[in-house]
Amino acid sequence: MKVLSLISVTCLIVEAFGASLPKAEINNRKFPESFKWGAATAAYQIEGGWNEDGKGESMWDHFTHTNPSVTDDKLNGDVACDSYHRWREDIQLLKQLGVSVYRFSVAWTRILPTGYLDSYNQAGVDFYVTFVKELLANGITPTATLYHWDLPQVLNEQGGWLNDSTADRFGEYARIVFKNLGPYVKLWSTVNEPKSTCMLGYGDGANAPGIKQIGTAVYQCARVQLLAHATAYHIYHNEFAAEQEGKISLVIDSTYNEPATDSEADVEATDWETQFNLGWYAHPVYVGNWPQIMIDRIGNRSALEGLPKSRLPAWSAEELEFVKGTHDYFGLNMYTALRVSAIDEPEIGDSSYYSDKGTATSFGADWTPSIASWLVVYPFAMRGLLNYVWNNYNPGEIWVTENGVATNATINDQFRVDYLQGYLSNMLDAILDDGVNVAGYTTWSLLDNFEWARGYTQKFGIISVDFTSENLTRTFKDSAKWYQRTVNTYCLVEECVE
Ligand code: NOJ
Repeated sequence: MKVLSLISVTCLIVEAFGASLPKAEINNRKFPESFKWGAATAAYQIEGGWNEDGKGESMWDHFTHTNPSVTDDKLNGDVACDSYHRWREDIQLLKQLGVSVYRFSVAWTRILPTGYLDSYNQAGVDFYVTFVKELLANGITPTATLYHWDLPQVLNEQGGWLNDSTADRFGEYARIVFKNLGPYVKLWSTVNEPKSTCMLGYGDGANAPGIKQIGTAVYQCARVQLLAHATAYHIYHNEFAAEQEGKISLVIDSTYNEPATDSEADVEATDWETQFNLGWYAHPVYVGNWPQIMIDRIGNRSALEGLPKSRLPAWSAEELEFVKGTHDYFGLNMYTALRVSAIDEPEIGDSSYYSDKGTATSFGADWTPSIASWLVVYPFAMRGLLNYVWNNYNPGEIWVTENGVATNATINDQFRVDYLQGYLSNMLDAILDDGVNVAGYTTWSLLDNFEWARGYTQKFGIISVDFTSENLTRTFKDSAKWYQRTVNTYCLVEECVE
């Protein structure tokens, strides 16, 4: 009881404290006319219909059904927002918002229920074809993610993201999706947030499939996901791109990292932090190979542990070439920031990603906490991270594929309005003042939905879903109204300078 009331008091304080960039500092220029506004969701988080029309079991179905306590509220995605049935209503909400882009994900298990080609499910393919056609008919451009964490359970039982052959299965699935949806979808992402999939699913075990091997499996998982991404990329470019004329890339999540002090040690630690997070996935794709600091540190620590080879799997020359350059844009999920400090070298014996990384992180005292423990509000982080990505990976074009915040608020979510206004203002600074080419933004999320291990306790939607009502009633929050005005005016304040 005591704990509960403490939590709600903290939340109240957070909501009241606000998260704003001082209003006077909000950028009052207009976004470029070519800028694309959108909203994002993912299949398992909104669809429901978990076993309908031939859909197979995904590892998230299995994870939540086998042990309901894996989520804070013991709930799962069996029904979620029921978008599998209510998708026409969702499209009308997008239209009402005025966005021109919708980022959704395809559920692998609707297309290939077991993950294998012989389980092909026409009903699943038809569902998404009808859906994207209806989006287009309503003037909304579909952008599709092929993998947003819902691996077929059959593949999971065969090693999932630790088994190299999952990359081949992913390619087979991707080919079916390109063939059928490619005429309508022109912007693809392969794997969403591979770091989160690996760290949460194979490192600390909070997400499906619940494996806790923080010093080993996380690296093998990264390797297989990168191979899967590259396999889909090459299939698209070799077999479809010439005719379909779309773009395809990986979506990488990253914090913005600041040194805790300007000491040389903290500045170096900040680079390590960035390389072990963003670089872990971006370096193989945009530069080639793992970041050198990962190769060195994990290699050295593995040797000192007496292991015959590094816990970080080495790429063959062929694999290096296969993964390098597999990008048409940079998909960036950006929410939060970290302050980074140097630490003494962790003792050998504890094979852990965190010891391998060898840094300590904290939040800035002036940053505002949200109700999600990992998410602090620091709008200036957006400009810094965009510049980092732009200058280090030279991607040509960036899409901010996710950005948003969790609150408890149902309708009056000024906290989120302030968050979005601050981050978008900072993004606009990067676009107009630093020349970073951000082509579009799909806010997370269109709807309150199933927030993985947090269940339905953390609401990221700009549109509320009343999960207790029979119709799962959707209602615009204040942030949706604010976003509606913004996407229609290309302006973050009441009136922009021309
Ligand atoms: C990233 C993930 O892609 C998405 O599924 C999740 O809901 C949001 N972050 C918020 O945690």
